[in-house]
Amino acid sequence: MPIYQRMGKIPQKRHTTFRKEDGSLNAEEVFGTAGIGGTASIAYHLNPPTRIIRYDEPYSVAPEIAIEKNMKPLSFKGFEIEPEEDYLESRKTLFVNNDMHIGLAAPKGFSKDYFFKNSDADEMIFVHKGTGTLKTMYGKIPFEYGDYIIIPRGTVYQIDFDTEDNRLLIVESFSPIRTPEKYRNNFGQLLEHSPFCERDYKLPQDLETIEEEGEFKIMSKKQGMMYAYYYKDHPFDVVGWDGYNYPYAMSIHDFEPITGRIHLPPPIHQHFEGNNFVICSFVPRLYDYHPDAIPAPYHHSNVDSDELLYYVDGDFMSRNNIGKGQITLHPSGMPHGPHPGAIERSVGKKSTEELAVMIDPFNPVSITKEAVKLSVDDYYKSWLY
Ligand SMILES: [Fe+2]
Repeated sequence: MPIYQRMGKIPQKRHTTFRKEDGSLNAEEVFGTAGIGGTASIAYHLNPPTRIIRYDEPYSVAPEIAIEKNMKPLSFKGFEIEPEEDYLESRKTLFVNNDMHIGLAAPKGFSKDYFFKNSDADEMIFVHKGTGTLKTMYGKIPFEYGDYIIIPRGTVYQIDFDTEDNRLLIVESFSPIRTPEKYRNNFGQLLEHSPFCERDYKLPQDLETIEEEGEFKIMSKKQGMMYAYYYKDHPFDVVGWDGYNYPYAMSIHDFEPITGRIHLPPPIHQHFEGNNFVICSFVPRLYDYHPDAIPAPYHHSNVDSDELLYYVDGDFMSRNNIGKGQITLHPSGMPHGPHPGAIERSVGKKSTEELAVMIDPFNPVSITKEAVKLSVDDYYKSWLY
């Protein structure tokens, strides 16, 4: 959805003959989203992306629910997720509803025995630790600490991690992940008051056309099942593509905070949205500058939304005893607010170094067994004094 892009060689007119050097036709693929009404790209493969050789029996990767209905404020130590050798094994789903799944991963690497595609969810991978390169048929996207990598559903990918020390926060959205509509004009361009602009997009680069025949295993996740299909052609055999549907990245460090004289509410931190959720970036910023301003947030009742905060770095001003990678879940229907002492502590402060990602699912989330393993005892009592 970001901006029109084209890479490599494409014919002047879509759906017309476009031949290889040997005179045979390239294989055109229209890759669309939301039926035919969403963003789309057109890619030209050396060979059709349909040549299936065989498949394995699917197996379930559906998250196991521990707490289906929850009313309690909870907290989870995300960095206690154990590192695992391979990317797919390392992905642990912690919270689910019908709109999205939210999880963490600490992969040591990505086995090159397979490619992965999420067939029914867009993915947002927030890179808390690690550097590397996302590889797709659209090109490569190098990533680093602080990047949000947005991968539209159906995109076949591999990741080259530079080291074994990686920590990821992963959102799977069953609707397209987009930049907030309020920041865009009728033409899709980001407006002057948007906290980021088109220059902040990290777009696919270095399109490499791989012509290789063999058996290429694509692991596809759909409806809680994992399928392995083996194809005759390398999935990155694209000579050119254009359109609006492709993976991209954007850094949390490029999010320019909006500040005011008195406390401004969370929508000013909004970075992305999907159906029934928003994702916000809390970044280092100057505090409210009214002489009597209270920079810490007021107590609030989020009656229509769960609130998940993932703490990345810095000293989170409204919380006590919160570490990197920790998650708090403040469920809808419960008032919550700064921890004891945090409001008084914030008065007169000029700035904050806090860095956090907030995910607000508008429908309540269920909590998985993987999440319960990380939970902090008696977090609900943390406001008592
Ligand atoms: Fe809140």
